[in-house]
Amino acid sequence: MEEIFERVMNREVIPLDLRKIVCEEMYHGIEVSNLAKMIAKEMGESEDVCDDLEIAGILHDIGKLKLTKYMYSEEGLIVEQMKYVRQHTRQSYEIVMEAGYGKRIADAVYYHHENCDGSGYPDNLRKEDIPPLARILRVCDVFIALTTDRSYRKAFDPKTALEIMIDEVEDYDMKAFLAFQRVVHREVLTKGVKKLREATSERQVETLELFEKEMILLYV
Ligand SMILES: [Fe+2]
Ligand SMILES: [Fe+2]
Repeated sequence: MEEIFERVMNREVIPLDLRKIVCEEMYHGIEVSNLAKMIAKEMGESEDVCDDLEIAGILHDIGKLKLTKYMYSEEGLIVEQMKYVRQHTRQSYEIVMEAGYGKRIADAVYYHHENCDGSGYPDNLRKEDIPPLARILRVCDVFIALTTDRSYRKAFDPKTALEIMIDEVEDYDMKAFLAFQRVVHREVLTKGVKKLREATSERQVETLELFEKEMILLYV
């Protein structure tokens, strides 16, 4: 897995900031992918579903690469930037469809910011209207985001992140959330979040290559 990170970092024609963003997004994808796979297994989902989630987890935010010039620009208003941030689900969807991953993976990616109470985006879907894989991704994505350092705050420790999520539990699919809690208690609180940063399958490493491709397409 290290190789792909090295290859991305060695593309010196691309601005360093962008190479770093690509690496951060790849790590984020791996973490969400690993957690999603564990939760799907815990829920007793089929191997098929686990495999699709593994890929959807890696690629859910890949569309952000297309928006870096807006999201990280110093010009423009915050509200404008938010509008662009919200477009990343569509961009990810398009990249995933174009790469031939199929509708189930693409839909999981497209709806990964929907909340069960209807407060999410892009379509304000509720509960069962949200594709099941997207509901699992949602839980994983929020947990990983909370346990990652941001420019405006430090990472929360896993226990605190879990407490924050319990406070907003109406956002999440109950079955996915209960499985998530069990997995966090068993795997994450004991082994640490860092463990989730390592690729666990060949398929994950292959899927990461799409980030490299996108980066080259956009910036060379
Ligand atoms: Fe996202
Ligand atoms: Fe994400």
